Amino acid sequence: MGYAKTAMEGRLQIFSGNANRVLAQEIASYLNINLGRAVVGTFKNGETRIKVEENVRGSDVFVLQPTCTPVNQNLMELLFLIDALRRASAARVTAVVPYYGYAKQEKKTTGREPISAKLVANLIDVAGADRLLTMDLHSPAIEGFFDIPVDHLQAGPLLAEYIRELNLPDPVVVSPDAGGVGRANSFRERIGAGLAIIAKQRPQPDVAEILEMVGEVDGKTAIIVDDMISTGGTLAEAAKSLRARGALGVYACATHGVFAGDAISIIADSPLVETITTNTIPLTAKCSDARIRIISVAPLFAEAIMRIHKDLSLSALFT
Ligand code: R5P
Repeated sequence: MGYAKTAMEGRLQIFSGNANRVLAQEIASYLNINLGRAVVGTFKNGETRIKVEENVRGSDVFVLQPTCTPVNQNLMELLFLIDALRRASAARVTAVVPYYGYAKQEKKTTGREPISAKLVANLIDVAGADRLLTMDLHSPAIEGFFDIPVDHLQAGPLLAEYIRELNLPDPVVVSPDAGGVGRANSFRERIGAGLAIIAKQRPQPDVAEILEMVGEVDGKTAIIVDDMISTGGTLAEAAKSLRARGALGVYACATHGVFAGDAISIIADSPLVETITTNTIPLTAKCSDARIRIISVAPLFAEAIMRIHKDLSLSALFT
């Protein structure tokens, strides 16, 4: 895919913070444009320093910045970039946040907790973003935390296409928790497979414990579908449990490779044959040791950006 420049597209500019410049560059290449020039650094006192170094007056500007680790740093870069672009008279600013951090804190699970995902949405609104373009929010309800339009892409079709091409024998798609059943169900419809559901609990934060499983996995190839891999505990425990119940092989597909702490070695040491994720978050070289395959979301984001810029429907991208 690639686009010829037109007069109108000359007004499209993409800027990036430091969170995932490789993805930003890849998207810009698909769109046949250069990344916008901006200093995104730090003052000696630790404060974030932003300076947009080209004219954006009247432009349709997209700011790419997943709010992955270092999450607070990346969030501040995003907010200050939006503010700088607004004050420099950009006509429209779209925050492109392929991975939306703080999304797991989208409700109170006990008293005296913040709803961090809502506060982050408020911050992006108040900074001056006109729209948000994102992918696979941990909870779709987060879309409603914004008062600006949200375009919510899915990696499911890309991941399913990869799995389909593997021609796995007797596949069954597995949701690793009750909250992911909708996602797993639409994945299984894409590849024509059965469905199994795991009941998971978290006895303490970041610890996953498999309680029960519904569905037939004996003698089948299991494909666990999730939105993110954080500590890797959910996938590793689910894979062990599936093998114990007779699954012949276990694969995993998850949009966001957060890979916190020892996640990569937990995945490497698990029974997972292959873990497929995307580049919404920049990943380390160690991924190949852990049988992790990365699928690029750049063409999809490039297409979405071009459609937003041209006021075209994005519906075709969601099917
Ligand atoms: C949970 O609700 C999510 O969908 C993922 O299952 C979870 O974030 C994975 O976390 P971890 O890799 O730490 O088990």
